[in-house]
Amino acid sequence: MKFLAASALLSSLILSANCRVVDLSVRQDDSYPANFKPNFDSVFSVVIQKPLSTVFPILGTNQGLGAHILLESIASDFQERAADSVNVNGNLEDAFVRTAAAAPAGQGFPRQHFSYIETIKIIPGLSLLDVVVHLDGTYTWDEARNITLYETSSDKSVVVRKIRRFEEINGGTATNVSEVINGQCPFLEQPITQSQARTAHQAQMNLYHTLFE
Ligand SMILES: *[C@@H]1O[C@H](CO)[C@@H](O)[C@H](O)[C@H]1NC(C)=O
Ligand SMILES: *[C@@H]1O[C@H](CO)[C@@H](O)[C@H](O)[C@H]1NC(C)=O
Repeated sequence: MKFLAASALLSSLILSANCRVVDLSVRQDDSYPANFKPNFDSVFSVVIQKPLSTVFPILGTNQGLGAHILLESIASDFQERAADSVNVNGNLEDAFVRTAAAAPAGQGFPRQHFSYIETIKIIPGLSLLDVVVHLDGTYTWDEARNITLYETSSDKSVVVRKIRRFEEINGGTATNVSEVINGQCPFLEQPITQSQARTAHQAQMNLYHTLFE
């Protein structure tokens, strides 16, 4: 997403200003969810003029996962990794499952592991300066309750957790897709990440309808 881009851009500017070479590849997997302290958020919803039974398979399962991630122009190289399932105590929307152990076959909620890349162009045409961000995540869904959970971490120390809800409206002819993002980014990047998160989130959701045309 673009806000990750903005964070990465800011990191690289700060680092180049310091004229230091620093390894930014800090993975937070070991500390998730224990050390997850969100410091930015975004809430948005869109209405899609299709019934929930059409919308959910595409936006709610692994079937359309790559397609909706790639609606972001800076996203590329979506890779579907392992598919497994995960047991949750209580509701999926209250859980953290990205780093949880897989459940025995046939139990729990379906979970799809994935990765993709975001490429931030600092100077158009000069690919040498591109900032490349690698993201790993899981997408987990509760089809009975029309709720899903999207969780990612990146090699630029940005961690995202997103709850997506699907609700039938207009007598079942349309679907309200609503999302709540909570994310954590490095302290210095918080102001730009917070503002970019909301812009990028709304831009992406406003393109969801294109998956159904
Ligand atoms: C989920 O959506 C289906 C329609 O596809 C609906 O029948 C069902 O009641 C919804 N479940 C909940 C818990 O809202
Ligand atoms: C969609 O759901 C969100 C979250 O519950 C709500 O704020 C919004 O008003 C809903 N939109 C419609 C058109 O029902």
